[in-house]
Amino acid sequence: MEDRGIALFNVDGAVHALDNTCPHAGGPLGEGTVEGDEVICPWHGWKFHIPTGICRKNPNPSWNVQRYEVRIVDGVIQVALPPKTD
Ligand code: FES
Repeated sequence: MEDRGIALFNVDGAVHALDNTCPHAGGPLGEGTVEGDEVICPWHGWKFHIPTGICRKNPNPSWNVQRYEVRIVDGVIQVALPPKTD
C-alpha cells in the first residue's frame, strides 16, 4: 500500500479532500490558509479552488491539485482513492 498525504477541508459544511502536496514545489496544502473556497499554499502563496483542485495562480491544468471524492458514513470521513496505475 502506498503512502499518500491528503488534506481535508471544510467549506461551508462540505468536506473536500485534496492531495496534500502542492503541485508547484511540494508545499503542504493542509497547512495552508483557507479563504472562502480557496486554500493558499504556505510556501509560495499559490491559490487552489478547494472543491475542484483548480490552480488559481496558473490556469494550466498541469498545475491543478488532485482531488478525491469524499463521503461521510456514520460520522466517519471516507476518501475514495483512484485505482493504482502500475
Ligand atoms: S509549493 Fe505551493 S506555491 Fe510553491
